[in-house]
Amino acid sequence: MREEKAATTVRPRTPQGRATAVAHPNIALIKYWGKRDERLFLPWTDSLSMTLDIFPTTTSVRLDAEAEQDEVTLNGAPATGEARRRVVAFLDLVRERAGLSRRAVVDTENTVPTGAGLASSASGFAALAVAAATAYGLDLDATGLSRLARRGSGSASRSVHGDFVVWHAGRTTGTDEDADLGSYAEPVPSAGLDPTLVIAVVDAGPKTVSSRAAMRSTVDTSPLYRPWAASSTADLAEMRTALRRGDLEAVGEIAERNALGMHATMLAARPAVRYLSAATLTVLDSVLQLRREGVSAYATMDAGPNVKVLCHRTDADQVAAAVCAAAPGTAVHVARPGPGARLLNEDG
Ligand code: PMV
Repeated sequence: MREEKAATTVRPRTPQGRATAVAHPNIALIKYWGKRDERLFLPWTDSLSMTLDIFPTTTSVRLDAEAEQDEVTLNGAPATGEARRRVVAFLDLVRERAGLSRRAVVDTENTVPTGAGLASSASGFAALAVAAATAYGLDLDATGLSRLARRGSGSASRSVHGDFVVWHAGRTTGTDEDADLGSYAEPVPSAGLDPTLVIAVVDAGPKTVSSRAAMRSTVDTSPLYRPWAASSTADLAEMRTALRRGDLEAVGEIAERNALGMHATMLAARPAVRYLSAATLTVLDSVLQLRREGVSAYATMDAGPNVKVLCHRTDADQVAAAVCAAAPGTAVHVARPGPGARLLNEDG
């Protein structure tokens, strides 16, 4: 297979047989929306995110010479259906690269409160990539780990790193191998920012449409998709400058317009994909009101109705209170920039 040639950069080393890793979720400020290759998880555009310091996922992988199939446990219960299928497919990729066939026992603990409406696939596949690569003996640097995590979930490529992170789309022309090698995340410099994300959970229910299906239908049917992709490329360049300058107001403005643009592309898909609810708009109104009152607060939304509000750390309490007052019943979580994925040693 052509893309597996990329694995020549993966130097096998002694499989450790077992490993445990931890990773945190990330929230995109410049969104990833749309794959140009679904099998390789190659996006149409670059994206940029902040890794959070809350809701870590801890995953351990242990090779089992006796097992005939992988045993996958999620928060203490056997994983089933799509969740299990994705983990097994990911392990198959790692096994192919490592030249090993041994099955694994995978145990994952997510600390995101159940139904918090925050996807755990980014932290989940980043932790699984680090633990599985070590257990099976793939000698990968952070770039290789990011590429590998990408094959579980696109946004997982970014959770390999901490703080602010850019995920390069990779070359859109040339061979699969070029594209795969070029599509990885790396840290982006930021100066003097003291940001907080106030996460407003307006609805703790499961997603109505998977991000994979929604992306596909947006790319295939939305007349706004290409214009948004072009403007997102310009947004990313401006975002890098704003981060370098430590300008939270510019970072927030760019993030908010990029997210609203992404949702506009979905609303224009046929049929429309609408993740935003009445409660989402109520929270967006409260963010506008905060700005009118002189508070730097900016919103971003992903594949769901919940809102993440970027603000200065010193304003976080006021932002959380305003959001809760506007939309009673909203649960808030306060997050700051967090660390990249890492291995845990025996005693944690
Ligand atoms: O990697 P996925 O399938 O969880 O897609 C993530 C898509 C968004 O969260 C909406 C945007 C992003 O860049 O994280």
